[in-house]
Amino acid sequence: MEQKNRGTWASSFGFIMAAAGSAVGLGNLWKFPYLAGMNGGGAFVLIYLLIVVFVGYTIMLGEMTIGRATQLNALGAYKKLNKKYTWVGACGVLAGFLILSFYNVVGGWVIKYIIQFLFGGVKGNASEFFGSFISSAAEPLIWTLVFAAFTGYIVWRGISGGIEKFSKVMMPALFVLLVVVVIRSVTLPGAGAGLAFYLTPDFSKLTPSTIVAALGQVFFSLSLGMGCMITYGSYLNKDENLAKDAFIVPFMDTAVALLAGFAIMPAVFAFGYEPGAGPGLMFITLPSIFAEMPLGTIFGLCFFILVLFAAVTSSISLLEVCAAYCIDEFKWSRTKATWLLTGIIFILNILSSLSMGPLSHVLIFGKNFFDLFDFITSNILLPLGGLMMCIFIGYVWGIDNAIAEITQNGKFPFKSRGFWTLMVKVIAPIAVFIVFLNTLGIIKF
Ligand code: PFF
Repeated sequence: MEQKNRGTWASSFGFIMAAAGSAVGLGNLWKFPYLAGMNGGGAFVLIYLLIVVFVGYTIMLGEMTIGRATQLNALGAYKKLNKKYTWVGACGVLAGFLILSFYNVVGGWVIKYIIQFLFGGVKGNASEFFGSFISSAAEPLIWTLVFAAFTGYIVWRGISGGIEKFSKVMMPALFVLLVVVVIRSVTLPGAGAGLAFYLTPDFSKLTPSTIVAALGQVFFSLSLGMGCMITYGSYLNKDENLAKDAFIVPFMDTAVALLAGFAIMPAVFAFGYEPGAGPGLMFITLPSIFAEMPLGTIFGLCFFILVLFAAVTSSISLLEVCAAYCIDEFKWSRTKATWLLTGIIFILNILSSLSMGPLSHVLIFGKNFFDLFDFITSNILLPLGGLMMCIFIGYVWGIDNAIAEITQNGKFPFKSRGFWTLMVKVIAPIAVFIVFLNTLGIIKF
């Protein structure tokens, strides 16, 4: 039987912490603030929120439902319900693999910064420090390996003994640390300008690329479109109220993303930096700010530790998607699946890491390996996976089957049934499809 020895969550709270842990990650703390900074602040935040409510919740619930109904990994789940859709699950597993190939590298940078802050922070020119660190050949790889091994270790310990146990500790700790940093940031003299930038939508800044960026970011940040929530949902029992969980997880994820903005934007403005610094915002701008701030080394240390916690609870979910696939489909042991995959992914990590330095001249479609893996996943594979999931539930597996699974034939209330049905069948797929065509350059708006 496929179901045997797969593991299960020990508690509902544990599942929610693990799922929220998957969602809350570098996407919230690193990407969200810099995307908001580059895309007009409040305008981006508003579009992002709308997409979370209409598309994020819809797909979150859909994925959890498919997972719990089949009790299988992403590929196995689609295969079990309809063989013709196996490829959708396969794209998901591939996406997990590709995201990890750059995610571990950034996780490694975070570890480097923790060590740096333990010894007093980043002194001198932060931009040069960061540039010379990521473009060197060996050092980033060592930290990447440490991060990848930590991820592998937790996944190897299993669902309740590894993923759940760690998420239950790291998530609340992360939240407390984040609140500490937010309080520091918003009480800095001059913080108001940052708050205004972040909270006042400037619609003149709203362009199609803002919408494309916001949609990709919703998928990435909520861990959607690659069957991660199918995989996590597959370890749930039938006593879990999915409609409630699918609300709580995006809510927590969005709260953390917004708080990350509150931690960063006021400080950026208070010290006269540029909010549109891009990916360097966390690794260049923030360390410069911490260097100028009273007790900055301590706040910097808190900040990078919380980023590490967020990153690890996400990287374990990415690895679990790939591991569950190998365990279910090839009957590999968890030990073999975890460590073999960690090893193979590390080879891709080498490409991503070196693409910041020695391999920066190797461009595919005009992008280095790191940016390519990011673009293919956030902008193509995840939206495609989400779109296909809506079509699959709406028109193939059937909305009635999904609702029966969600409500357990009436055991759980499902107030948003009508909203969800409309979203799955019509609104979400159309919205994602239009944005997707724009990403591919087929239509321009
Ligand atoms: N949601 C994670 C983040 O915001 O960093 C990244 C991620 C994890 C994406 C798991 C996709 C996934 F399946």
